[in-house]
Amino acid sequence: MREELSRRRFVTTSSAALAASAVQPVLGANGRLRVGWIGAGSRGYHCIDQMQKSSKDLVEVTWVCDTFQGHLSRAKDRVQTSWGNTPKTTVDFREVLADPNVDVVFIATPEHLHYSMAMAAIKAHKHIYLEKPIGHTLQEGAEIVKAAEKSGKVVQIGTQNRSNKLYIQAKKMYEDGMLGEVHYVRAFWYRNFDPSAAVPAAWRYVIPAGASESNSDWDRFLGPASKRPWDIKRYYQWRNYWDYSSGISTDLLVHQTDAANFVLNRDVPNTCMASGGIYMWGSDKGDDREVPDTLSALYEYPNKFHLNYSCYFGNDYFGYGEQFLGSDGLLEVLDRQRLNFVPQKFGGKPVKGRQEAHMHYLKDFNQPDATADHIRNFLEAVQGKAKAIAPARAGQLAAIPGHMATESYKRRKMITWDAKNERFA
Ligand SMILES: NC(=O)c1ccc[n+]([C@@H]2O[C@H](COP(=O)([O-])OP(=O)(O)OC[C@H]3O[C@@H](n4cnc5c(N)ncnc54)[C@H](O)[C@@H]3O)[C@@H](O)[C@H]2O)c1
Repeated sequence: MREELSRRRFVTTSSAALAASAVQPVLGANGRLRVGWIGAGSRGYHCIDQMQKSSKDLVEVTWVCDTFQGHLSRAKDRVQTSWGNTPKTTVDFREVLADPNVDVVFIATPEHLHYSMAMAAIKAHKHIYLEKPIGHTLQEGAEIVKAAEKSGKVVQIGTQNRSNKLYIQAKKMYEDGMLGEVHYVRAFWYRNFDPSAAVPAAWRYVIPAGASESNSDWDRFLGPASKRPWDIKRYYQWRNYWDYSSGISTDLLVHQTDAANFVLNRDVPNTCMASGGIYMWGSDKGDDREVPDTLSALYEYPNKFHLNYSCYFGNDYFGYGEQFLGSDGLLEVLDRQRLNFVPQKFGGKPVKGRQEAHMHYLKDFNQPDATADHIRNFLEAVQGKAKAIAPARAGQLAAIPGHMATESYKRRKMITWDAKNERFA
């Protein structure tokens, strides 16, 4: 019952945000939304590609901003090839925001820059697609939600599982009662790394050829983070350092707490107990990473719900998945590509005569990449034709457990959520 209330509260809030955004639909010049693109690294470049695939007709990219010249010119070329126009380029995101002819911005920069960029974009009256996690800290995310909901603009967070048809199907099956009662979810993400490969360890991505201090704007990369001398690893492998990321908690886990929230209409956990460490790499192997490469987190949610999260980079046998353990059946989404439903059996017979079900993202849904649909959903929301599926509040609800895990890992103790004041107790 309380779960249902919580669901209604969530839906109502989302609808309120939609109602606010729907009052100001934007059509842009020639019916196309004018896009300013901020951050065109690995994810940003991929998202430009996905936007071209799903929404070429809806947009015109008028600006590209990146502080690495190589990524800036690569993105400019991509826009020229895909849309035929030459976007303006800059290393200063404020130039993009200052242009009144920009309707929407995409922000795909490192985590520690999300807050300053999103807040400035809201102030500049832009609609925003903001990559996850919504903020680097709990407070940053909370302020973005507040400002976003007040702005009357659409703010969509890049938690694209919500647009993945397998998760939409999982949600429907849960809401139709196929799973029975669900008190327990197992979520995991396991990876491994070949020490002789180009990427020999987690988040030790290949540094772009030719990247150097002269073509990478270090001060702008640091933004609000502590000043320090140029460090190419920090710039291009920022996920390994606390100043710019919280590693597993905010980079990976948020996708999976979001999946649980989305499918089961859940909210924020009451408590989190996390532990882990730097086991695979670390200073003994000449790796100066600060964030753990191994993390487990146990969450207790209100209304009898437990989430068991685990992430490890030393063996990828189990891959990626969320497993919803219902009293009537198990539903799992694996590698974001396969959905399995297996009914519980008592006395050798499936509960309530339920049938097994197996679905595949390509075979059954022809959806190669949910990001394409997630972006289309955002753009249609800006046009007033759809409801944003991942509003800022949903992004924050997914990120809070990540921040709780970081806090618990660092303090080595259980963290309790103070729901009334929306902070750690
Ligand atoms: N939704 C997903 O599945 C998903 C997947 C990967 C990454 N991401 C998110 O996307 C974001 C970017 O990650 P990434 O893997 O592309 O990182 P990246 O390092 O490959 O790219 C970041 C880009 O931002 C640029 N940049 C840095 N400071 C800047 C500034 N002040 N102004 C403009 N540009 C600046 C860098 O030069 C770089 O090109 C992160 O928030 C990450 O969590 C989301």
